[in-house]
Amino acid sequence: MKKDKIGIGFVGAGWMGSVQLKRLTERNDIQILALLEPNKQRGAEVLKNLGLSESLLVSEYDQIVNNPQIDAVWLVSPNSFHGPQSIAAMKAGKHVFSEKPCATTFDDFLQQIELEKANPNLITFVDYILYFDSMEQHLREMIAAREFGDITQIQINYRHPVNIAGDKAWKLNKSIMGDAIGMGINHSISVMVYAMESQAKPISVFAKSLAAKVRGFEADPIWNIMIGFDNGATGFCFGNIDNGNGYDAYHNIYGTEGAFTFDSQIEHQWKVKYWSKKSTDSKWIWPLNKEKCRQDGLYKLAWPDDTTTPDSGNVVEHQTGACVGHFIECIKSATMSPLSFMNSSVIAQIGWAAQMSACLGSEIKLPLNFDVARKFFEEK
Ligand SMILES: NC(=O)c1ccc[n+]([C@@H]2O[C@H](COP(=O)([O-])OP(=O)(O)OC[C@H]3O[C@@H](n4cnc5c(N)ncnc54)[C@H](O)[C@@H]3O)[C@@H](O)[C@H]2O)c1
Repeated sequence: MKKDKIGIGFVGAGWMGSVQLKRLTERNDIQILALLEPNKQRGAEVLKNLGLSESLLVSEYDQIVNNPQIDAVWLVSPNSFHGPQSIAAMKAGKHVFSEKPCATTFDDFLQQIELEKANPNLITFVDYILYFDSMEQHLREMIAAREFGDITQIQINYRHPVNIAGDKAWKLNKSIMGDAIGMGINHSISVMVYAMESQAKPISVFAKSLAAKVRGFEADPIWNIMIGFDNGATGFCFGNIDNGNGYDAYHNIYGTEGAFTFDSQIEHQWKVKYWSKKSTDSKWIWPLNKEKCRQDGLYKLAWPDDTTTPDSGNVVEHQTGACVGHFIECIKSATMSPLSFMNSSVIAQIGWAAQMSACLGSEIKLPLNFDVARKFFEEK
């Protein structure tokens, strides 16, 4: 018999988890069947605030994996648990929503790919949440429509002093956080790869990292990553989770017939500007500024008032409703997500390649040679 609600086992009701759990409870096609939250007091409080029964709290992950009513697990635990928890869930035949990073060990990453290949009925998803931002969607569409001609240079930053307050101090610990790319810099890598997807594929990575300067990160929190594309374009990512003043997701994209910039740290109406030989007669336009568009005679190119931009590190303001909805719809329609472990593997591969490059001082080719990479990470 077909169930009318998808049974969810939720894992980790912290800062991000409590927001996603709330988004889930706003839907009528799911049912929360268990919550694993080691901080019992927090878990009970989150459930109570959402009008859910405290009896949903479980103390062992096995109680989720072994519950036949649970169709999907939702992993919002600290980074190092995503790999083992997702692998156990897939082995038990459950769909997996995983916060990023998908894994903090190369071996877990490989197992996720193998398990997805072997179980095409299972839906998996890695939460590269900027994929759902409406400005990023506009940008992808414009690049695909050759608004800027052929892209030759693309820079996307992720400079954001990630939240380490209170018990979020696990982010300082290398064995739990993994690396800084997985902790947040992968957001900018995902934006770059999906923006370029219609024109080119990444084929090489060269990276340099710096030790912490300001806060106590065990893993290097500052990264400069250069990505080569198969159309000859170069991508650059300035990543820094150590310090910053607000959320810097600066974009600078240059093509043969136009350019696009986004500054996350200025007033909304001026954040985005672009020019296009094709649609703006090579004049700069500020699509978030309706009045300026009107004055410039380009009103039809103004973006809707509800256009979102990636300019906040506060998860409450993230596109959590969209990513939750996307994953549930993928399950309901038995459709693989573009952000599945396998489909998004290139994002993780760029992270692994950057680690190798920074250590070896040389460029690493993509797709990664898994045997060489496995040996590298085993010996590291
Ligand atoms: N996609 C995004 O934009 C985004 C934004 C913020 C956080 N995140 C991700 O969400 C995850 C959680 O981050 P956070 O900032 O909410 O951290 P947090 O510390 O606030 O929350 C983590 C929660 O997991 C619980 N926990 C600890 N060990 C656990 C275990 N073994 N199993 C289950 N739960 C466990 C903790 O008690 C805590 O409540 C991280 O992986 C982070 O990368 C993603």
